[in-house]
Amino acid sequence: MNLMKLSNTHENILNRIERENEEDSVWIVGSKTGRMLYWLARVVEPKNILEIGTSVGYSGIWLAAALEANGGGKLWTIESHAERYGRAQENFKEAGLDHMIESVKGHAPEVFDELSFPEEIDLAFFDATKKEHEDFFDAVFPRMKSGGLVIVDNVISHRSGDMGAFVDGIHENSNLKVVEIPVGDGLLIARVV
Ligand SMILES: C[S@@+](CC[C@H](N)C(=O)[O-])C[C@H]1O[C@@H](n2cnc3c(N)ncnc32)[C@H](O)[C@@H]1O
Repeated sequence: MNLMKLSNTHENILNRIERENEEDSVWIVGSKTGRMLYWLARVVEPKNILEIGTSVGYSGIWLAAALEANGGGKLWTIESHAERYGRAQENFKEAGLDHMIESVKGHAPEVFDELSFPEEIDLAFFDATKKEHEDFFDAVFPRMKSGGLVIVDNVISHRSGDMGAFVDGIHENSNLKVVEIPVGDGLLIARVV
């Protein structure tokens, strides 16, 4: 079974967002990390995914496309910037994935209080303001399902700066099994044990 098969529609929209990002960056993860997220979501088969940092919906399309290919599930994704939030809504709709996505306009983690959150999160993806990651983790970890994945981007690119203490803490956390993958800006994958 080929787990990497994207529809032409999704591939075309992702390619278009990549081209737009070259003209005017909206900090998308890029195709290698996007494919990695898709593959992880296909293999792990999460039911509920939480993303912090939607931007224009690029990584969200990879994740929701994986949910759709798995046969169902839901993506909650949070974005604080009004214009990027609006563009994400258009992209999710064009991709035909909007029915699987609850987009939240607001600042994490404070906005969590207003969310109709799932009881348990199977996969969380952090890709927002780097120095807020400890706050994201503290708010998300109690909701993580045993065996679930916390995935964090930029752990290599920002290791010596805003992400250092957070990444060290994740490695020292005895509730997590952690690997760092040198794809894109560096992807940390932590499995809740
Ligand atoms: C790196 S971009 C996300 C890229 C996106 N994951 C993708 O690959 O398509 C980070 C986004 O997070 C948003 N952001 C930053 N801090 C945030 C916070 N605390 N809550 C919600 N959104 C936040 C920014 O406005 C920005 O659009």
